[in-house]
Amino acid sequence: MAHVSIKDLVKIYPEKKGPGVKVVHGINLEIKDGEFMVLVGPSGCGKSTTLRMIAGLEEVSGGTIAIDDQVVNHVVPKDRDIAMVFQNYALYPHMTVFNNMAFGLKLRKFPKDEIDRRVREASSILGLDPYLDRKPKALSGGQRQRVAVGRAIVRHPKVFLFDEPLSNLDAKMRVSTRTDISKLHARLGATMIYVTHDQVEAMTMGDRICVMKDGRIMQVAEPLELYNQPANVFVAGFIGSPPMNFFHGSLERSGDQVVFVEKNTSAVPMHITLTPDLAKAGSRHLGKPVIFGVRPENIHDAATVADAAPGTTSEVTVEVSEPMGAETLLYLTTGAHSFIARVNPTDRFDPDQRVKVVFQVANAHLFDATTETRLNPT
Ligand SMILES: Nc1ncnc2c1ncn2[C@@H]1O[C@H](COP(=O)(O)OP(=O)(O)OP(=O)(O)O)[C@@H](O)[C@H]1O
Ligand SMILES: [Mg+2]
Repeated sequence: MAHVSIKDLVKIYPEKKGPGVKVVHGINLEIKDGEFMVLVGPSGCGKSTTLRMIAGLEEVSGGTIAIDDQVVNHVVPKDRDIAMVFQNYALYPHMTVFNNMAFGLKLRKFPKDEIDRRVREASSILGLDPYLDRKPKALSGGQRQRVAVGRAIVRHPKVFLFDEPLSNLDAKMRVSTRTDISKLHARLGATMIYVTHDQVEAMTMGDRICVMKDGRIMQVAEPLELYNQPANVFVAGFIGSPPMNFFHGSLERSGDQVVFVEKNTSAVPMHITLTPDLAKAGSRHLGKPVIFGVRPENIHDAATVADAAPGTTSEVTVEVSEPMGAETLLYLTTGAHSFIARVNPTDRFDPDQRVKVVFQVANAHLFDATTETRLNPT
């Protein structure tokens, strides 16, 4: 087991002409011993590049990567004691499952009985015992994926790196393999760094999640902290499905209260009275543009709420209603902003119907419209 320490890490890919393209902009990240750290972010944000630098498959352009306090920038991959599982796990088609897992150890000249012991241990952890004599083509996608993980386990590495290992699997298999990898982490207690662009995978698997955008870290936090206290508009919109709703507008004083007034030129603007906490957080932004954020589960059909506080309701128009069974997703519009509410599945709505909704303001978020950072007290 090991901890990984990333300091001011930079990656510049060389260009034929010009100074090169900077795709990782001096990131800092500490991954603790035994931690499951997820790197998540949209395509092209530098997740794989970062992981490949940790593995030693990509040269570091600036900063340092240390494993257990030893800087490994110039250590070759095979001496870093790291095992990586890729999306395209390319098993050797002519070898059995056993030999696919044993191959790396054979190359490293491990004694035969040690290879045997390690492969059987990995196979039992991964539930691959019945398949050891099969060739990869006689396995399901999920089983092949487990063989690829087995190849990593037999090495007993200090750190496991995963780059989107589940993206070739169908939805159902992804969910079950996701659980298998989480169990594996619990069982081995190993340090794991896991790259995905899927925020559900990130939320369900990570001890902590590092959200990246354009080669920069937006926030590092535990899953629920990311969800409840996103540092900025990007994290707020990226984590959660359906995503958080955002309304542009400004803050105005009304008596001793602060009201969010929606920017809306096509209909009566929505007015939402802020809670005292939120009002205090926004006090320096009076008259300035802000973004008001509310998650779909914090917007309710007013007909189902007995005691909505004054100033927390708004009349809006239904665009689409999607019954999902356990809940109904209601696509609404104020005229200027479209947004989504999660409502009771027994309620029925028609397109163009007017409906009064209640905003649960205690769970709302306020962002500076210019810097996009969150203003709520922490
Ligand atoms: N060998 C390369 N040469 C030049 N640019 C590259 C190279 N590899 C990646 N890039 C660029 O670096 C940026 C980051 O790529 P990277 O593969 O790290 O993204 P990612 O976050 O893993 O995305 P995805 O989710 O699509 O896998 C992208 O803009 C990509 O085009
Ligand atoms: Mg990638």
